[in-house]
Amino acid sequence: MAYQIFHGTVIHSLGPSDLIILESALLVVGANGKIINLVEDTPKDKVPSILSSLDIPSSALRDVRYLTRGQFLIPGFVDTHNHAPQWAQRGLGQSMHILDWLEQVTFPNEARFRDPAYARRVYSSCVDGFLKQGITTASYYGSLHAEATKILADICLEKGQRALIGKCNMDRNAPEYYRDANAAASLADTEDCIAHVRRIDPEGVLLKHVLTPRFAISCSPELLGGLGVLAAANTDLPIQTHFNEAEQEMKFTQELFPQFKGSEADLYAHYGLLGERSILAHCCHMSEHEMSRVAELGCGVAHCPISNMTVGGGFMAAPVREFLRRGIKVGLGTDSGGGFSSSILDAMRQALVASNAREVMSGGEHKGLNIGELFYLATLGGAKVCSLDSRIGNFEVGKEFDALFIDANALGVMTILDDEDSIRTIFDKFVMTGDDRNIKEVYIRGRSVKS
Ligand code: GUN
Ligand code: FE
Repeated sequence: MAYQIFHGTVIHSLGPSDLIILESALLVVGANGKIINLVEDTPKDKVPSILSSLDIPSSALRDVRYLTRGQFLIPGFVDTHNHAPQWAQRGLGQSMHILDWLEQVTFPNEARFRDPAYARRVYSSCVDGFLKQGITTASYYGSLHAEATKILADICLEKGQRALIGKCNMDRNAPEYYRDANAAASLADTEDCIAHVRRIDPEGVLLKHVLTPRFAISCSPELLGGLGVLAAANTDLPIQTHFNEAEQEMKFTQELFPQFKGSEADLYAHYGLLGERSILAHCCHMSEHEMSRVAELGCGVAHCPISNMTVGGGFMAAPVREFLRRGIKVGLGTDSGGGFSSSILDAMRQALVASNAREVMSGGEHKGLNIGELFYLATLGGAKVCSLDSRIGNFEVGKEFDALFIDANALGVMTILDDEDSIRTIFDKFVMTGDDRNIKEVYIRGRSVKS
């Protein structure tokens, strides 16, 4: 692969309140898929001389992509919480409470992944579907099956998606037909999956295994402890679980682990599962004690506003403003399966709705989120949650080129452009009304992956 060079509008985030819009930037991607230059304020006629000052051969000039009005580059979206097997059950069981939904809809569906041929078919469609919607990085829960989880890893690598992939651990409180035989078998399957991911991507160029205790309800103390030992022995591996999602879940967790007095933070910390590598999905109900522990320990939050208001039980608006105020890492999750959409654009919109609800519920204390903040959560915030922000999340020089080529004029249903629209207005129209038809091209490490 030679240089890839883009000239035009580039939009990215440097922080929650630091949305950067560069109207005529020159962005150069090297053969290794890394951003080697981002030059601001470059008039089109200066492109040849600037490229030559950067020691880029003049032969590269003919391949410069000049973006036109309505076209811009943004970083790829990061989905911090996603159940790959639930790709096949999206939209089902909406408005059920969490434990009923797991038992009646999710476990029967996930059990089907015992069949490797079925897993290959669904996971192939799943990864294509997420890539098409601009999700360049996903943190996936697999099913409990080692074979299917290894297939998911193979497919992500083949199709070029950056992914954390976890064999789901669950050895109790699930039907006999869908649970790990015991803690030892669950841990052995996990080690098998860790080894597989290391074998197919030894440098971790795109993939990592993520330790994935489904949640405390479905894991025996022995299994949680064993995963804590694996986490300590493998400091490169992230950890993910569901955390304070819904009342029904929290109540049952407390019954199973009364010694932690209702604190899931103390529970997971006890088993060695909380730290900077932890990705905690939901965090809808947080006591002051849990907020400060999560902040101290440096855990990240996967905010899933769509499933929080459809499956789970009730109307759960997580305190995202408060996470940001305390410097807790937050990103967005589609929670594919729970919820009606697998689009990060939809998750951004629903995060806005949830934050407005939270503003009302908190008597005005937790102000609603703005579009710049939503975009941050979908990109750099998610990269931080996945501990990938030194490599992706925005277009800083040296990072890998995970990017979306947006065309606001593409045939679709996005709000039409006006002649006098500023770039900021076009960006807002895309965030609030665009869809995958406006995501014309998707790049991961410089490789074009949207077919
Ligand atoms: N808690 C345990 N498993 C799940 C799941 O699959 N989805 C959601 N939303 N919550 C969970
Ligand atoms: Fe989930």
